[in-house]
Amino acid sequence: MNRLSRSRRDAIRNLAGLVAGSPLLHAQKDLPDTGSRQPSIDEIANIFEMEAIAKERIPRANWDYIAGGVDNEWTLRRNREMFDKIIFRPRMLVNTEKMDLSTTLFGTRIATPILTAPSAGHQQAHPDGEIATAKAAAAKGTIMCLSINSSIPPEKVAASTEAVKWWQLYMREDLDSSRERVDKAIAAGFKAIVLTVDGPYNSHRERLLRGRIRSTAPPGMTTRRRTTEPHPYGLEPVLVHKLDWAFLATLKQWAKVPVLVKGILTAEDAVLAVKHGADGIVVSNHGGRYLDYAPSSIEVLPEIVQAVGGKLPILADSGFRRGSDVLKALAIGAKAVLIGRPLFWGLGAFGQAGVEKVLQLMTTELALAMGLSGKPTIASIDKSLVRIEK
Ligand code: FNR
Ligand code: LAC
Repeated sequence: MNRLSRSRRDAIRNLAGLVAGSPLLHAQKDLPDTGSRQPSIDEIANIFEMEAIAKERIPRANWDYIAGGVDNEWTLRRNREMFDKIIFRPRMLVNTEKMDLSTTLFGTRIATPILTAPSAGHQQAHPDGEIATAKAAAAKGTIMCLSINSSIPPEKVAASTEAVKWWQLYMREDLDSSRERVDKAIAAGFKAIVLTVDGPYNSHRERLLRGRIRSTAPPGMTTRRRTTEPHPYGLEPVLVHKLDWAFLATLKQWAKVPVLVKGILTAEDAVLAVKHGADGIVVSNHGGRYLDYAPSSIEVLPEIVQAVGGKLPILADSGFRRGSDVLKALAIGAKAVLIGRPLFWGLGAFGQAGVEKVLQLMTTELALAMGLSGKPTIASIDKSLVRIEK
């Protein structure tokens, strides 16, 4: 069975090679060839191998939604490429016998500075959906941020583990119904609200515009969309495009828990976030899914760290795949990072165990990179650890 799907994949790769100039095909990079049989979870060496397995197990339309970016997918590619511009300045003969990767966010002690990003519909990848993600995050001692567009209701996800979880808000309906959803999330026990501000209009994900392949999902998995109808093409406004910074004060009144603003990409907006009372910032281009030619998070992180001047914790996401990526962000001044697509790779490949494995692999890589550069603790990491190439 695997042999058959592998030879089909090879055929597609060969065809793709013929038109390799296409930016879209370029974005759909080759996945590692895991051989003629799929490795077991214990044999997986890095999260890209998890991606290859997930791709075979997740229905095509769902995969296109999860993996895709916007337009030319330039930002999606840049999210990976800009990590290559940052080079370590490792220090030697530092005692790194006792490695400690724990850190604190809004009073919550976490074992690793890698959180799961708010992301819609985890049942697209596995029937256990967000419950699996929540349990995996809890097992690895970190925080899950649940999307407002979850496949499983927030109350159920909240009740599935004791661990601290955050909840992400899109202002997409009228104010009253949004407030109700915030109230429910707080009542369910979510400990912070993440307001995502980078999607005032729906973006064109061209893999979805074109992809009308009907996919069948195994029982319990949700199918992304019926696929005989084209994906809507045009300006689809949502309420968030009517909002401005003044809304933050309103949300802070509703929430009574820390409020983070997700989707900041400039020093100017970081300063406004501080001024309007944000409790934290998530530097993010939404994994290259909204504005194409937005910069990568890692390249704007230095200006944002400088502008904020330590007044609030800064988190970052978009393109983090290796422990070394995480270490670069921490060195520049982020408190923690979030992972989006990798959690779907874990879910799609092995459910909860897969998400645990993704977190474990990245955390182990981070520990190794810290150990090899003379940084035994998160607090010992500073910007002298990196040199950024022009
Ligand atoms: C997302 N993301 C997202 N963000 C958000 O605030 N609310 C949401 O509902 C979603 N939904 C969503 C679905 C899927 C399938 C993906 C891949 C992403 C964006 C997410 O929080 C995060 O910013 C990016 O995923 C980070 O980039 P990487 O790690 O995917 O490269
Ligand atoms: C996405 C939305 C749901 O990125 O945030 O698909």
